[in-house]
Amino acid sequence: MKKVIITGGAGFIGSHVVRRLVNQYPEYKILNLDALTYAGNLENLKDVENKTNYQFIKADITNETHIDKIFSAFQPDGVIHLAAESHVDRSITSPLEFVKTNVIGTVNLLNAAKNIWKNNFKGKRFHHVSTDEVYGTLGETGLFTEKTNYDPHSPYSASKASSDHFVRAYADTYGLPIVITNCSNNYGPNHFPEKLIPLMIHNIINHKPLPVYGDGNYTRDWLYVEDHAVAIDLVFHQGRDKENYNIGGFNEWKNIDLVNLLCRLMDKKLGRAEGESAKLITFVKDRLGHDLRYAIDATKINKELGWKPSVTFEEGLAKTINWYMNNQEWLNHVTSGEYQKYYEEQYS
Ligand code: NAD
Ligand code: TYD
Repeated sequence: MKKVIITGGAGFIGSHVVRRLVNQYPEYKILNLDALTYAGNLENLKDVENKTNYQFIKADITNETHIDKIFSAFQPDGVIHLAAESHVDRSITSPLEFVKTNVIGTVNLLNAAKNIWKNNFKGKRFHHVSTDEVYGTLGETGLFTEKTNYDPHSPYSASKASSDHFVRAYADTYGLPIVITNCSNNYGPNHFPEKLIPLMIHNIINHKPLPVYGDGNYTRDWLYVEDHAVAIDLVFHQGRDKENYNIGGFNEWKNIDLVNLLCRLMDKKLGRAEGESAKLITFVKDRLGHDLRYAIDATKINKELGWKPSVTFEEGLAKTINWYMNNQEWLNHVTSGEYQKYYEEQYS
């Protein structure tokens, strides 16, 4: 595998995947293709932007002509597709944006890959990065396996489920060599502060209310983002064709417990009195169609490829908090302008 297109490489997870591949495979040519929406930020890749095996092209995956041109010129052997609209709350207010990017954008990429590979699929691979949210919600017990039926509830998860179906349809219909990964909630550096963990860290630093949806008894399984990047690297290179692999942290937290933990850790870090930040916790109107619980059974990727999380939650949260405290400029940058408007509309 020599030439790889990574879509969405300027986003949160994408930037960690780009960094991993650029550093791990100096002989590859890595092309980061990203539209630089509000969630994409080239500051995330400052440390790799001058590497000779890396290049960036600003492009929108919904623009069929531009995507075809880029694929023909670059002639990738592989595609790792992460570009997406990724925030559930935004999908509730603007569902069509999610259909455009996540469904139509994915189909454009599948077509572009199929066209340049011209049915000679030897040594080629289209890796689609998806989410555990396609499986819907769990009750108090049980885990999502690769065999769990799709049952998405939010416009975001419905658009991701639809894109997964298209990816599989291209394998079944045209023989496109595909692989899909479905991962649980990620956290770590460069996470846009619209998602739970970075939003809470940002608000704690700034003494702002900490908005917990509903009663806070919703459960998510959290994985450190670099461990996800390692899993993607492994599946991209060694996963079996047409398979899907679940990726998770074996690390379930109720939102309210997680927010309280962040408050305790940050009180120590910021030299505040114990309990000071927790006073900022504010229960707010619940998310529509809020999924109760996600939890992943990651046995398959562990057994087949030997992957397991390497970072404990304690270590991962410490690294994450330190990163945000040492990168206030990044935070100020991404929370100015459009973010303020989004925040007011979402939380007023
Ligand atoms: P993100 O929102 O941080 O980044 C998305 C990136 O895609 C941005 O750089 C953005 O500019 C780019 N993008 C958006 N629309 C585009 C378009 N039309 N054309 C080209 N680029 C476009 O998202 P993330 O959290 O890094 O998620 C990356 C992928 O991983 C997504 O496909 C998401 O569904 C999946 N995923 C995320 C999580 C999570 O916890 N964040 C968990 C499992 C799976
Ligand atoms: P989020 O980070 O948006 O990820 P996802 O919805 O994809 O799992 O949210 C994680 C959990 O935190 C989810 O149950 C919703 C909840 N939440 C809040 O309680 N308050 C908030 O301000 C946000 C953004 C999320």
